[in-house]
Amino acid sequence: MTQKMRMAVIGCGNIGKVHAKAIRRLDDAQLVAVSDLRPESAAQVAAEFGCNPYSDYRQMFIKEKPELVSVCTPSGTRLDICRAAADAGVNLLVEKPLDISLERTKQILEISESAGIKLGCVFQLRFMPLYSSLKRAVTEGRFGQLIIGNAATICYRSEDYYKSGGWRGTKAQDGGGALMNQGIHNVDLLRWIMGDVKSVTAYADHLTHDIEVEDTVTAAVEFVNGAVGTIQATTSVYHGINKKLEIFGSDGSAIIVGEDPVMWKFKQPLEEDSSFSQDQDSEHKGLSPTSPLVEDTWAHEQQILDMMDAIREDRQPIVSGIEGEKAVELVLAIYKSAETGKKINLPLSK
Ligand SMILES: NC(=O)c1ccc[n+]([C@@H]2O[C@H](COP(=O)([O-])OP(=O)(O)OC[C@H]3O[C@@H](n4cnc5c(N)ncnc54)[C@H](O)[C@@H]3O)[C@@H](O)[C@H]2O)c1
Repeated sequence: MTQKMRMAVIGCGNIGKVHAKAIRRLDDAQLVAVSDLRPESAAQVAAEFGCNPYSDYRQMFIKEKPELVSVCTPSGTRLDICRAAADAGVNLLVEKPLDISLERTKQILEISESAGIKLGCVFQLRFMPLYSSLKRAVTEGRFGQLIIGNAATICYRSEDYYKSGGWRGTKAQDGGGALMNQGIHNVDLLRWIMGDVKSVTAYADHLTHDIEVEDTVTAAVEFVNGAVGTIQATTSVYHGINKKLEIFGSDGSAIIVGEDPVMWKFKQPLEEDSSFSQDQDSEHKGLSPTSPLVEDTWAHEQQILDMMDAIREDRQPIVSGIEGEKAVELVLAIYKSAETGKKINLPLSK
């Protein structure tokens, strides 16, 4: 029998609890400890999940020797934690976004590579069957030539949401607003499915919230393969639809809203296409348009399982650190375009 993998979670807020729940549901995994700057948060989650609490993650690494740690702290706090984990030889599964600047994401990639640890970035929607099928249809050429790809994250967050946690809506720790936080899931899906982006031209502002960062953004996108598209994100719209992904090609079209395939049509239909009907309820739920809480842990479980396999098989996880960095880079390019009023070419490091 395989030994259970020793796991830990850093950051015992909303998403830290989702990781703890997901780990508890996996046969081959054991949550040995959790850590949070606030000792009371660590103690509460440790009591709920039957593991040891720490307020200092370095001590946790020394005493508990986890093989894998989920980093679930605010977005701009990852680098120091990743450095400490790498020093201790602990593999890293970092929540999205990987961090909030390219300088920091690059350091995280370098640190993990030179320590020889695995680095994954959480984009759990990639593991939902509908999105895997969409990616497969593109890879198999069923869309023909890709023409247009649109990603919209139209959701609602109250003023109280931005006042909670002390870091949301701040440049220093959220690193951005509707796009860096909520929209980045769809940014990743669009880039994964349509391919790398060549340039962006964008507009961003905060229209309804009193925050340092944008609550509404829209961008025109040119892909390297010649296709075009748009990326939109807002947290200002009641009630919102959360995420909508549209992929149009010379031989097929797909529109997905939330977990519903609103359109799934190909010139060359296959029998399996009939399972993608709008009135078919998805077994697993993704993200809510009105709440930051992730209710269904299934997709996180799949991503943690892949990370465990990557460690055991000594391979890259499906969503590697580099994939995490590419999503951050695209978001930052959109911000740069909105700030300068200019078209911005990618990669930004060029
Ligand atoms: N994958 C998803 O669908 C999803 C959903 C929600 C949040 N997230 C991401 O997860 C991250 C956390 O979001 P949240 O909503 O759970 O935030 P939160 O404020 O609810 O929780 C963050 C926790 O981290 C702790 N913390 C802060 N700095 C720390 C440090 N240096 N060391 C240890 N603990 C520290 C805080 O005390 C708090 O308990 C964000 O980056 C967010 O983008 C991802």
